[in-house]
Amino acid sequence: MNIILLGPPGAGKGTQSQRLVEHHGMRQLSTGDMLRAAVKAGTPIGLKAKAVMERGELVSDAIVSELIDAELTAMGSDVGAIFDGYPRTAAQVEALDEILARHGRDLDHVIELEVDEDALVERISGRYSCANCGANYHDVFNQPVRNGTCDKCGAHEFKRRPDDNEETVRTRMREYRAKTTPILPGYESRGLVSRVDGMASIKEVTAALDDLLN
Ligand code: AP5
Ligand code: MG
Ligand code: ZN
Repeated sequence: MNIILLGPPGAGKGTQSQRLVEHHGMRQLSTGDMLRAAVKAGTPIGLKAKAVMERGELVSDAIVSELIDAELTAMGSDVGAIFDGYPRTAAQVEALDEILARHGRDLDHVIELEVDEDALVERISGRYSCANCGANYHDVFNQPVRNGTCDKCGAHEFKRRPDDNEETVRTRMREYRAKTTPILPGYESRGLVSRVDGMASIKEVTAALDDLLN
């Protein structure tokens, strides 16, 4: 099974990917996470991407498609893929089609998380994650069971993203509207698109996705 999770910043792509990994034994391929790892490691890709990401603009199509290709090559062909935040442009849709064909994979679902943009700034400004394992949390909506301790790995260090400020979030949303929403009609005409209400609670969204995938 290979699925794409689409939705604007804060829609819940990362949160739901992590839950699908647990429920369905799939693998999350987040270009955002890959790029943040490259920035942290100071690789040539990271050096190029850092300022672009801090502005909230899109990194080049070639870079993200190479990252996805490399990740698919590294993982076994029997593991399902959740594409989180990729593809985001028409050129990336084309690249992904070519990459999937080369890896002998078919696309099963393109799932759009439908959200109300007004709620997204609140979601994003409350977001943080475990500095050790990357598990996602939120100040109000998704706190760890024990305050200050990661549920997954027990670590006590957390971090916030440098692009999670209001100005950058606005640019990220503009980029989504201008470059990513136009890829939906193409997938629609291939009969691949399903829509899930991303404004429901985290658990309810997961249940809707589980229904779709079972
Ligand atoms: P990326 O990391 O993909 O960021 P994004 O698309 O802006 O999306 P987010 O990660 O902010 O949101 P999310 O949907 O994952 O929400 P989350 O689950 O965390 O990309 C970052 C940058 O990298 C881009 O700006 C670009 O520069 C570059 N980039 C990445 N991919 C690229 C590509 N393909 N091409 C070019 N450039 C690329 O949820 C948010 C918060 O809300 C969390 O705290 C969560 O707990 C909470 N929450 C989630 N769901 C719910 C719910 N149902 N109810 C209440 N709270 C909820
Ligand atoms: Mg994310
Ligand atoms: Zn952790």
